[in-house]
Amino acid sequence: MPQQFEDVVVETDLLILGGGMAACGAAVEAAYWAKQNGLKVTLVDKAAVDRSGAVAMGLSAINQYVGLKDGTNTVKDYVEYVRNDLMGITREDLVASIARHVDSTVHLFEKWGLPIWKDENGKYVHEGRWQLMINGESYKVVVAEAAKNALLQDGVGEIYERVFIVGPLLDGNRIAGAVGFSVRENKFYVFKAKAVLVAMGGAVHVFKPRSSGEGMGRAWYPPWNSGSSAYFTIQAGAEMTCQEVRFIPVRFKDAYGPVGAWFLLFKSRATNSQGGNYMVERRDELEKWAPYGRVKPIPANLRNWLGMLDIMEGKGPIYMRTEEAIGKLAEQYKDDPRAYKKKMKELENEAWEDFLDMTISQALLWAATNVQPEQKSSEIAAAEPYFIGSHSGASGAWVSGPEDLQTEETKEEYFWGYANMSTVTGLFCAGDASGASSHKFSSGSHTEGRIAAKSAIQFIVENNQMPNVDEAEVAALKAKILKPLSTFEQHSNETTDPDINPNYIRPRMFMFRLQKIMDEYAGGISAQFSTNESQLSRALELLQFLKEDSDKLAAENLHELMRCWENVHRMWQAEAHVRTMLFREETRWPGYYFRADRPKMNQDEWLCFANCKYDPRTNSWEMIKRPVLHIFPQPKEHELLGG
Ligand code: FAD
Ligand code: ADX
Repeated sequence: MPQQFEDVVVETDLLILGGGMAACGAAVEAAYWAKQNGLKVTLVDKAAVDRSGAVAMGLSAINQYVGLKDGTNTVKDYVEYVRNDLMGITREDLVASIARHVDSTVHLFEKWGLPIWKDENGKYVHEGRWQLMINGESYKVVVAEAAKNALLQDGVGEIYERVFIVGPLLDGNRIAGAVGFSVRENKFYVFKAKAVLVAMGGAVHVFKPRSSGEGMGRAWYPPWNSGSSAYFTIQAGAEMTCQEVRFIPVRFKDAYGPVGAWFLLFKSRATNSQGGNYMVERRDELEKWAPYGRVKPIPANLRNWLGMLDIMEGKGPIYMRTEEAIGKLAEQYKDDPRAYKKKMKELENEAWEDFLDMTISQALLWAATNVQPEQKSSEIAAAEPYFIGSHSGASGAWVSGPEDLQTEETKEEYFWGYANMSTVTGLFCAGDASGASSHKFSSGSHTEGRIAAKSAIQFIVENNQMPNVDEAEVAALKAKILKPLSTFEQHSNETTDPDINPNYIRPRMFMFRLQKIMDEYAGGISAQFSTNESQLSRALELLQFLKEDSDKLAAENLHELMRCWENVHRMWQAEAHVRTMLFREETRWPGYYFRADRPKMNQDEWLCFANCKYDPRTNSWEMIKRPVLHIFPQPKEHELLGG
């Protein structure tokens, strides 16, 4: 009987949700401070920590390393880089907070056994200014081992794997825990905690992916991150930020291989079918988005935008000129055939390793389609939108910055007691779960997890009472969460095909419906990333019907029950996104999306955070504008914008 579920109640001091980069950082740090204070830490992951989250397959680079020790860069340099890439809109206090600690995290990774490339002088090999090359196939295993050792060795904590977290428990405006279920056994989990740290990653498959049919499930962002962080914080009533900022990565087409190593390490060009380089030919377009069109590197969304213009003018496909880049790098060895052969072999190895470390399917696609990167270009394309606050997106919860980095002005707006605490008391966020602090990537997310965990332990020490949990609310949540199982059981025999039934919708079909709405009305790939007010309003209308039907989701087994809730999570991420795009009446983020009815930046209003907040008691949304303030002086050009 699927409805016979054992209740498992776990009481803990700090509850860490997720087992990815931020959660593993949080585990290491929390264990240290918890031990000193006699506290318990519990980590819950829907998968197995060794291979969960975006780093499951491994990575080929550490994308945030500042190099403070040898004076390569300063924290201010990093803040400027991020601010420019986000066209001026970033929380400098949060970015600086991570940047000043990230190097120490990278040194820990190395100590734990992660191989970082070194040159003949023993110096780290950089991919670009901020990125270090690694042999990263086992990156996640290395980081997970440290987290597990920290939590389990001295009995400070415990880890629950394969437990899917659905939503929050609250005691007024204080977080009180979380509920979820095992994806393997009939167990319903109630976690009661004094503080909760959300680190369940971002969201993929909210929009229809390019990969459909036989390729479905393949995406750049890992398919198992389904918006649980956003759902959890939205349902807890936390203020959210930058929900309009989706990330559209340009990737090797159809297997989504990342491009960073090609652009930065191999110094490749991307050209259209006529051989034109949009980054050169369309330089004038950047003036429309000045001053951000003038900064170096050109913001990721504007780089996208220039390529998209080529596609819209019918100049596609766009190709990464791998053969040209490899040829150029080997050119200086041309006179010495042996040295040339050796160099070519080395470059060929690096090219394949980049994908074998991180996106194995891209290497498979190359092999399957006879691509030899030293001989032949590969097609690249803008992927469907993702929500990933740790990369070049920014969506997530609005969190407090650290006290010591605030100015008098920013303190009013950006600080409320504990670093990385959301606007809900005791609810902390890190990695993709926290917003307006982009470009933290794997290393910065781990670092932010550490910062948030230390702060959460301090919160617990200073607020050391267990919040009240309303048992009636828990019972109601349990009934709601498990309902898809009974819906299926009750009605599946009423039709000859259990997929088609007037009484329910299965999660796969539900996901297709969500993706179609978002794709067609909210600026997905089919709409060439373009939308307008009427389309967004229509999307909201259709999302409302979808929400009503979510009550009719049906699950045949535990796995499908997880799929049901993953899609509910996605649906809420979608709604926050659409509402925020509607709220900002301008083309905010050309190259991420284009508002056809408002084709320009609104220069007077551009520099602000678009925040939103859902009130679960009244079932209503509030849209909020917050100022962009600086902890570092901004370059003169930006002052022209009045920011
Ligand atoms: P994740 O590491 O994704 O962790 C999320 C965790 O939450 C997972 O453990 C997941 O199982 C868990 N979870 C999700 N939902 C639930 C739920 N409902 N209940 C319980 N647990 C849940 N960064 C770099 O530095 N260098 C690179 O080369 C690089 N390349 C990348 C390549 C790809 C293909 C991708 C997708 C990302 C890449 N990144 C890279 C970025 C980096 O992986 C992310 O910035 C980082 O992993 C974010 O950390 P996180 O903890 O927020 O999320
Ligand atoms: S990954 O996370 O999937 O590996 P990606 O390959 O796009 O991402 O980028 C890796 C790093 O290189 C990131 O720091 C990204 O900002 C940077 N990057 C990628 N392309 C460019 C470019 N054309 N110019 C400057 N930086 C870039």
